[in-house]
Amino acid sequence: MSAQDNTGNNHNKVGGGIRDDRRRAGKKARWNAGSSIGNGDQRPALGGPSWTVPLGQRDARTASRSDANSQIPSPFSSLATLTSMFGVKGLNARDMIALSGAHTIGQAQCFTFRSRIYNDTKFDLNFATTRKATRPYTGGNSNLAPLDIQTPNRFGNNYYQNLVAKRGLLHSDQELFNNGPQDALVRTYSSNNEAFYNDFAAAMVKMGNISPLTGINGEIRRN
Ligand code: HEM
Repeated sequence: MSAQDNTGNNHNKVGGGIRDDRRRAGKKARWNAGSSIGNGDQRPALGGPSWTVPLGQRDARTASRSDANSQIPSPFSSLATLTSMFGVKGLNARDMIALSGAHTIGQAQCFTFRSRIYNDTKFDLNFATTRKATRPYTGGNSNLAPLDIQTPNRFGNNYYQNLVAKRGLLHSDQELFNNGPQDALVRTYSSNNEAFYNDFAAAMVKMGNISPLTGINGEIRRN
């Protein structure tokens, strides 16, 4: 399955993280953020918090590209859009800011952040220049860059430190710290890893409980 298209709205990988969460729920009660968001039991642990998840949740057997495009925000979204789209799912602004910290790990393709590095003024200029070197104005759509320039392979609050330094890779990342109402929380997470971990773990449980499948819908995965 792929929910990927040129809107940049391709969270099939993130979905993998969420699916892993539920799959493990049928088997074990604990889940480690670092090792599972990265999409695999085979990867080394990346660190991060762990939390208890409800047992027996069911995974969907199908995925919908159109639902992904209409219900998941794009990397070009404003803070208002991010807040309202999470809100529709029962996740408040604090949940949204904490969950965005998942971008402490992983990579993004050039087409998802090209307009940001070439057109956005709220950007650390040295960072933009570095990014432009291997992400041309045209072409190279799939060239990758780490979402967290400091520690892309370790789960932690460096993502928020990047935002304070105007080094958020996606436009949607930088929107969280852009002279707006969430600046204070981003600053808190940037200096307090424990606060980030606590809120991230709570928000992951909350996200895992969105519209759970019941009855004969979906399946409980055992591997
Ligand atoms: C706030 C709204 C969000 C937007 C607009 C967004 C957007 C994106 C985009 C555009 C990418 C790069 C995909 C690619 O280029 O292939 C990405 C990667 C990623 N996102 Fe998000 N995301 C959001 C929230 C989340 C949440 C809530 C999580 C998990 C809790 C998450 C986890 C990840 C991870 C782990 C990656 C890296 C995937 C990899 O390297 O394989 N994101 N996101």
